[in-house]
Amino acid sequence: MERFDAVIIGAGAAGLFCAAQAGQAGLRVLVVDNGKKAGRKILMSGGGRCNFTNLYTEPAAYLSQNPHFCKSALARYTQWDFIDLVGRYQIAWHEKTLGQLFCDDSAEQIVDMLLQECAKGQVTLRLRSEVLEVAREGEEAFLIRLNGGEVRTPALVVASGGLSMPGLGATPFGYQLAQQFGLNVLPTRAALVPFTLHKPVLEHLQALSGVSVPALVTAESGVAFRENILFTHRGLSGPAILQISSYWQPGELVSVNLLPDDDLNAFLDGERAEHPNQSLKNTLAKRLPRRLVECLQTLGQIPELTLKQLDARQQTQLADTLHNWRVQPNGTEGYRTAEVTIGGVDTAGLSSKTMEAHKVPGLYFIGEVVDVTGWLGGYNFQWAWSSAWACAQAL
Ligand code: FDA
Repeated sequence: MERFDAVIIGAGAAGLFCAAQAGQAGLRVLVVDNGKKAGRKILMSGGGRCNFTNLYTEPAAYLSQNPHFCKSALARYTQWDFIDLVGRYQIAWHEKTLGQLFCDDSAEQIVDMLLQECAKGQVTLRLRSEVLEVAREGEEAFLIRLNGGEVRTPALVVASGGLSMPGLGATPFGYQLAQQFGLNVLPTRAALVPFTLHKPVLEHLQALSGVSVPALVTAESGVAFRENILFTHRGLSGPAILQISSYWQPGELVSVNLLPDDDLNAFLDGERAEHPNQSLKNTLAKRLPRRLVECLQTLGQIPELTLKQLDARQQTQLADTLHNWRVQPNGTEGYRTAEVTIGGVDTAGLSSKTMEAHKVPGLYFIGEVVDVTGWLGGYNFQWAWSSAWACAQAL
């Protein structure tokens, strides 16, 4: 029977970072993962360039049943700390937009960095390793049965992530383990995920597949994001839609302002004064992609008129359509394409300082398995680094 000071389940962002910190502090650490590669989501992330943190990380960018839970960890290991680490490895990066930091070259650099950090701490990494059973041995130890033998440890860290992208190794393992030890698990749902649309609307909008427009998208709760939306052959995607999906519940509407930087009435009045015979369609195509205008016309939302024919009532209706286009998604694309999972291990059962379960000393939960979900834009990796760091200090 092997013994380790800490066993970490999951060689993703949180697990590798926690292992490296604990190993470098002198602990004997084992990391096990069911996959054949470490950091698979990191490799896929940010279109292969890993959006590894966000300059504007703050607790308000996280959803959780307890919005205060993330504060301590985020304040103790910040985006600046991680940027420092990346700098020490001379990984070149750039800000793409809205504080989102990406590697100039490849996400592989982040995984290599984490693996080198683990090597510095003499961490043992076992890939293709299934956890078959976890049992408590008295008050002080956990006995972990793996497909390759048994290990004993006083500290078990669960960093097995959420349910998104089962193809990349996602499993409900962390939730099941939490329940096994009497912790509450909040209902989960896919987030940062594209919307699907009802068939009749989709049939019209499918022609727009690939069209991207800046928009202000607002959920029924009033939360809003000003980024691009993308029409797809299944429905709607793009950063503004992914963001709002985290705030959307089935049956709800979302409001899309397709002209967030314009006052349509002022624009049309100005155009009418100069070109009264110009068609409404050609006028709107000065501000919106022509394909979108044509599509809205076939949907009957833009009348086939010239500017001088457009009366005040029609103009008001049009302004409402374009500034407040109400869409009722049919659903989301689900865990298959979602970037993250909302919900998970209830933070009420965990210490926000150490991530340790109140009821089960020695059992820790970090990263996405916990009910803390960030916005799109590097916030989720920052939560992985910060929660992992907080946990490692306590091991
Ligand atoms: P993570 O999912 O990274 O790791 C969990 C590990 O546990 C996996 O390696 C898994 O194989 C393993 N595991 C699961 N069950 C197990 C079991 N039973 N036994 C053993 N091992 C098990 N975020 C961000 O901030 N910036 C970005 O650019 C992106 N981009 C992005 C792209 C895509 C395609 C996805 C799917 C997600 C993102 N994200 C992101 C989100 C980000 O990837 C995610 O929040 C973190 O990877 C979470 O880190 P964790 O370590 O908690 O879980």
